[in-house]
Amino acid sequence: MERLFLLCSGLLVTTVTSQHNVCSRPELQGNIEMTGIQRFFSPGVELALSCKQGYTPVSGPRKIVCTMNGVWTNTKFNCIPKRCPHPELITNGELFYENTVYQSTINYTCHEGYTMTGSSSAVCQASGTWSTPAPECIPVSCGHAPVPVYGMVIYNKAVRGNTTNFGLTAIYVCNPPYALFGNQLAECTASGTWTKAPECRVVTCPPPQDIERGYMSTNEKREFFYKEKVKYDCQSPYVLEGPMETVCLENGNWSEKPSCKGPCSVEIKRGRILHKGKKMWIQDFQPNRVLHQEIVSVYCMNKAMKCGYAVPTQCIDGTLKIPECFEEPSGIEFTLKSNSLPSEIEQC
Ligand SMILES: *[C@@H]1O[C@H](CO)[C@@H](O)[C@H](O)[C@H]1NC(C)=O
Ligand SMILES: *[C@@H]1O[C@H](CO)[C@@H](O)[C@H](O)[C@H]1NC(C)=O
Ligand SMILES: *[C@@H]1O[C@H](CO)[C@@H](O)[C@H](O)[C@H]1NC(C)=O
Repeated sequence: MERLFLLCSGLLVTTVTSQHNVCSRPELQGNIEMTGIQRFFSPGVELALSCKQGYTPVSGPRKIVCTMNGVWTNTKFNCIPKRCPHPELITNGELFYENTVYQSTINYTCHEGYTMTGSSSAVCQASGTWSTPAPECIPVSCGHAPVPVYGMVIYNKAVRGNTTNFGLTAIYVCNPPYALFGNQLAECTASGTWTKAPECRVVTCPPPQDIERGYMSTNEKREFFYKEKVKYDCQSPYVLEGPMETVCLENGNWSEKPSCKGPCSVEIKRGRILHKGKKMWIQDFQPNRVLHQEIVSVYCMNKAMKCGYAVPTQCIDGTLKIPECFEEPSGIEFTLKSNSLPSEIEQC
């Protein structure tokens, strides 16, 4: 072996002196680099390869040697870009990036109503870290909502100090007799201002009007204020239909008034009726009066089955329709055959 080595070094000397078999400066590809500016290398010279900034070496060997044939030894030495960690999502904002290798960029944006503190972009550095930490998206602040005169504002959640954040909502309420004109809902907007506050204005309704056959809880002939109420009732035997009270509305009108509905009489001469669970002859039904919306039944005959049945009918404001199946017995029938009336025979 020693002999062979000596032989080799003898050859080397020869080639150097004859300017044969020298290696020329290797053409480095990709992101590999080497130091120095030397253009020719003698056989036996070792050259250390390295990666450009931001790149990491993979496989090897890292050294190449100039052989006696004037070519460099082979190597699989390779440089790949360094990778920065995957960025984390940010709250109330978004991030955009295509890659996380050296020199990649992340762009950050904040959602509407949020302002950015920090840098809107980060670059993956040669060290494998991002140039800046992720920014924060801070909600826009509006301060207190304007409060209308004679009104108040109710936030949808507790407000600390004198700042309110984007997205906070509130409702406005006017103190009666003031009524609200404008938008009842308020919101801290993306521009850092509150939506327009409504106005609280005095509202009055004209003196309340009596209802026919009824009376009111007041005799005052004054104007009434927003939200003031008046109760109604009916003289007997009239029955109230509709709301028991009206209220002065914010448009200066009264809410719907009730009305008084009249009673009915049962227009049959002979026969039994069923009223409030009691079965009685019509002449015993004194006074012959059914109140509005009350139900009374008369009896009809099922001729095929030879049985009787009660048919209900309702009093509607003075009108009580006698069911068509009802057959009024004649005076004679009623006196002689009262046992065979539909109300007296077996019930279906
Ligand atoms: C980041 O923003 C820059 C400048 O607006 C743009 O050129 C680049 O394409 C953006 N990159 C990504 C990944 O969105
Ligand atoms: C909030 O209150 C503090 C202390 O009263 C005051 O210095 C500051 O100017 C107020 N900020 C706003 C936005 O009203
Ligand atoms: C108030 O009532 C009057 C009479 O019924 C009606 O003409 C008017 O439209 C009402 N006003 C409003 C604001 O609804």
